[in-house]
Amino acid sequence: MNILFRGGDVVTETETIIADLLVIGDKIVSVGTDLPVSDARVVDCSGLILLPGGVEPHAHFSLPMFDTISSDDHFTGHRAAAFGGTTTVMDFTSQSPGSSLQQSIDLSRTQASQIAAVDYSFHVNVTDFSNDVAREIPSLPLQGLTTLKVFTAYNGRLRLSDDEISKVLNISRENGMLVMIHIEDGDEIDRLVARALSDGYTDPIWHARTRPAHGEVIAGRRAISIAESSKAGLYIVHVTTAGLLNQIASARKRGAHVMGETCPQYLFFTQEDLLRPDGANWVCSPPLRTVEDNDALWKGLSDGSIQTVGTDHCPFFADGATAIEFDGQQLAIPGKELGKSDFTRIPNGLPAIEHRMSLLWHFGVSAGKLSMQRFVELTSGNPARIFGLYPRKGTLSPGSDADIVLWDPSIKHTISVTNSHMRTDHDLWEGVEVEGYPLQVYLRGHLLVDRGKWLGKAGYGQFLHRQANAPIM
Ligand code: URP
Ligand code: ZN
Ligand code: ZN
Repeated sequence: MNILFRGGDVVTETETIIADLLVIGDKIVSVGTDLPVSDARVVDCSGLILLPGGVEPHAHFSLPMFDTISSDDHFTGHRAAAFGGTTTVMDFTSQSPGSSLQQSIDLSRTQASQIAAVDYSFHVNVTDFSNDVAREIPSLPLQGLTTLKVFTAYNGRLRLSDDEISKVLNISRENGMLVMIHIEDGDEIDRLVARALSDGYTDPIWHARTRPAHGEVIAGRRAISIAESSKAGLYIVHVTTAGLLNQIASARKRGAHVMGETCPQYLFFTQEDLLRPDGANWVCSPPLRTVEDNDALWKGLSDGSIQTVGTDHCPFFADGATAIEFDGQQLAIPGKELGKSDFTRIPNGLPAIEHRMSLLWHFGVSAGKLSMQRFVELTSGNPARIFGLYPRKGTLSPGSDADIVLWDPSIKHTISVTNSHMRTDHDLWEGVEVEGYPLQVYLRGHLLVDRGKWLGKAGYGQFLHRQANAPIM
């Protein structure tokens, strides 16, 4: 089906123009004025904004954690993303101890391929580095997998030593890949957790108190130095503190290939939220910080020190002992209640993927903190470039996939668990009103969401072969 989007405000990273956009099959073929209708279906876009489909750089579906798994899978999480205007999602596949990377890749790809509803890829977590793994890494770009993720925390489980991180950075540079890093100070966390537990502190707030901001700054400084001496690219996921942001900004000024991502939760919430009766719902790693950090991160978004907004979407039920109705069925998945008497047993993570674009639009663009161009850069253009998907994704240009969000700036939407589509029993932004919301969402020319109605299907999402040697933004 060919579609002519007639007379909308077409927003790219460089400009906003009133134009028509012609889609033939799954591609955008032209953007211009007075394009001929020929045999296309015409969609009147007057008063509407056309945005590139959002590109989510960071989500976790069906992620095993403690005695449960994150509650969205590659269908429900993709569908929720699409409702919010995101049409490409990147998840992680995690190496099991003693196993090859390929084993986890094959498993994740098999799990996702049957049910994916939007286009997707995986970053590959290296958690047990060895000579075999070093030899395996160069085979990944041939499969379209161009990103590795390492951790400076979760000692004895996911963490690599600085020496191993340096080796991963070198191999990745040699193969045109990019290393992503979860930054916290694993040793400091272990010390503080042991002390808190022995002092009898078990409440959710201790999750934050045992993962202090200075740990992120110190571990970040070390990781940036290692990357600089390897002359390798480094993408720091979920930046939470003004301190790490300053490190990134000064590293970038001296020419280091360092990039940063932050997430809506670090822009809107603080450590104080963990003191609420439902504080466990706010447990994520790294933890929430302070109002000063929120403000610094907003500034980092507008001044260019941060390159992307991801969500680190990793939902759990607040009360996994009580079933909810979801897709017409009763469903309960163990969740935050697992840590009722011990903050170290609370599954880490929270639901956010559906709200990324609308929150950033309302509190960023409409509030005058971000231009529409910067919004597009942060939510689709930059993630597409950095992760080797541009210009297929992340722009409204001839030749790009017809991933189009018809954004209605006048829709008023009150966020609630009752109208969200993430598979969980609570919403952290419950009651928050946003103005500006997707009216329609298209993936490769196919209408997935129409005025709040789901028209997509499981299995339509395609695995994306990403390009190596992607630019540092
Ligand atoms: O708390 C979080 N962020 N859970 C997901 C796993 C991770 O470390 O990103
Ligand atoms: Zn992380
Ligand atoms: Zn994560």
